[in-house]
Amino acid sequence: MPTVTVEGEKAFEVEAGRKLVLAIEDAGIDIMHRCGGNARCTTCRVEIVAGDVPPPEGDEAAKLVAVGDLPENVRLSCQIRVENDLWVNVLQRSSVTGVAPGTRPVD
Ligand code: FES
Repeated sequence: MPTVTVEGEKAFEVEAGRKLVLAIEDAGIDIMHRCGGNARCTTCRVEIVAGDVPPPEGDEAAKLVAVGDLPENVRLSCQIRVENDLWVNVLQRSSVTGVAPGTRPVD
């Protein structure tokens, strides 16, 4: 099983194919997902510090372009399936913004 390491938090194993945002949340780590995993809000964004993820496609690619001016390693965790070891940094947390995390994305 792949291992996901969240900077400043912990490392944990994840079933291959799991959505990254759900893997992080289910590990007990605070992460936002205001639009429910539909590539619209960008609150689930993470920095991919290490590890390979496929390039953004479709709705994610369009949203990242629309937001603009983001580093290439910033991605929407609701659009990424964990397929190998990743090291990520969660960029938006409910405990920091004071806003509820949002509807839980579907598996
Ligand atoms: Fe809204 Fe991922 S873009 S939850």
